[in-house]
Amino acid sequence: MAETENTAKLQLHGKEYDLPVLQPSAGPDVLDIRKLYGQAGVFTYDPGFTSTAACESAITYIDGEEGVLLHRGYPIDQLAAKSHYLEVCYLLLYGELPSATQIEDFETRVTMHTMLHEQMQYFFRGFRRDAHPMAVMVGVVGAMAAFYHDSTDINDPWQREVASIRLIAKMPTIAAWAYKYSVGQPFVYPRNDLDYAANFLHMCRAVPAEPYHVDPILARAMDRIFTLHADHEQNASTSTVRLASSSGANPFACIAAGIACLWGPAHGGANQACLEMLREIGTVDRIPEFIARAKDKSDPFRLMGFGHRVYKNFDPRATVMKESADEVLDLLGVENNPTLQVAKELERQALEDPYFADKKLFPNVDFYSGIILEAMGFPTSMFTPIFALSRTVGWISQWKEQLSDPALKIGRPRQLYTGATQRDYVEVEDR
Ligand code: SDX
Repeated sequence: MAETENTAKLQLHGKEYDLPVLQPSAGPDVLDIRKLYGQAGVFTYDPGFTSTAACESAITYIDGEEGVLLHRGYPIDQLAAKSHYLEVCYLLLYGELPSATQIEDFETRVTMHTMLHEQMQYFFRGFRRDAHPMAVMVGVVGAMAAFYHDSTDINDPWQREVASIRLIAKMPTIAAWAYKYSVGQPFVYPRNDLDYAANFLHMCRAVPAEPYHVDPILARAMDRIFTLHADHEQNASTSTVRLASSSGANPFACIAAGIACLWGPAHGGANQACLEMLREIGTVDRIPEFIARAKDKSDPFRLMGFGHRVYKNFDPRATVMKESADEVLDLLGVENNPTLQVAKELERQALEDPYFADKKLFPNVDFYSGIILEAMGFPTSMFTPIFALSRTVGWISQWKEQLSDPALKIGRPRQLYTGATQRDYVEVEDR
C-alpha cells in the first residue's frame, strides 16, 4: 500500500483506491476507511478493535509505549498530585480547568443532587441481600429513567447537562447504599458539609448509633482512586456507552450498559478478581506455582491486575496508585496483611520474570486499587462499584461529546460471515 502525505493507496483486485490519512493532534495517523465498502466492496476485519479508531475524541489521550495518560492535555500524575476528583470531572466535561468561582458553582450543583428519590429505596429492597452490588447498580441506574423524566431528552442540551450532574452526584449514594444493603445496615444519607470522597466514605461507614469521623488521609486516598479511574479513551465500557447512545437511548440506560460491561473480570472486574487471586495464592511460597500457570498456554489462568491492551509500559495510574497504597498501608498499619504481602512479592517476581517483561505485562491500575480498597476494609464485591462510580464522569463526558457530533450515526458494525450459504428448508421427515 503506497502512501503520500495525506493519502494512502490501496491496490485490490486490479484497482487502486485512495484512502485519506487523517492526522491527529497526538498519536498514530488514522486511515479513513468510511468510503471503502462503497468504493471497493470490501470490509476491514478487526474484532477486538486493536487497530481501529471508532470515533474522534478530544477528551483523553493514552501513549501506551511511553506510559502517558492525558486528560484534556493534562498528565494524570499532575492531576492526581495537584487536583481533586470534582475538578477533574469539570475538566473532562467542559474541556478546561475551572476558575475558583466555576469549581465552587460546579461542586454546589453536584452536592445539591446527591440524594436519591426516596422511592428508589424500594429498588434496593427488591434484591437479595447477597446480590452482587454491580447487579444492584445496573438495576438502580437503569431505573433512574423511571424517576428523572425531566432529564432523559438527549436532544435538549439542558437535560443532557442535568442528567450529567445527577449521575455524577448520585453514583456515590447508589454505590454506598448497595454496600449498606448487602451488610444489612440502614442507608446513610449524603451530607452537604462533606466533600465528595468523604461523603462516600461516610455513607459507607457511618451508622445511626454514633458519629463517624472520616480520616482525611483515607478521604484523600479515595479521592485519588476516583481521579485515577475517571476516564480512559475508548475502553470496553466507554465504547459500550457510546454504542448504546448512538441509538438515542436515554443517558441512564446508556450508563447502566457501561456498568454492565465494566463488571467483566477482563475489565473493571479485574480489581475484584485480582484480590480473589491473591487470596487463592494465599502465601508467598505459592507464587511461583501461579506464575507458571499464567505462562502455561494450556492453562486459561492469567495474573489478574497485570497487562493492558494499550499500555506496553507501566500504567501511569498504577505508579500513582502504588504511592497511595503505601500511604494507606502505613496509616492503617496493615503492611503485615498476608494478602498484601503476597501482592508485593508477586509484583516483584512478575516484574523480574522475562515472560512478563517480554510481553510488556506490568501491574495495571486494578492491581493497586484492589490493595488499597482491601486495606480500607471494603469487601472485594465493592471494588468494581467504586470503579464504576469513578468512571461515570468519563462515560458521561464521552456520551456528551458523541451527542454533540452533528455527523453522529448509529453504530452498526459489519462482519466476516463464515456460516452456511443459502440452502432450502428440509422437512423433518427428510432429515
Ligand atoms: C482495565 O481498556 C482500558 O483502558 C481498560 C482500563 C480502563 O481504565 O478502562 O484500563 C481498565 O480493564 C485494566 C485491565 C484489567 N484487566 C486485567 O487485569 C485482567 C488480566 N489482564 C488480561 O486479561 C489482559 O492483559 C487484558 C485483557 C487486560 C489485555 O488483553 P489483550 O490486550 O487482548 O492482550 P492479549 O490477551 O492478546 O495478551 C497478549 C499476550 C498473550 O500471550 P500470547 O498469546 O501473545 O502468547 O499476553 C498474555 C496473553 O496470554 N497475557 C497474559 C496476561 N495478559 C496478557 N498472560 C498472563 N497474565 C496476564 N494478565
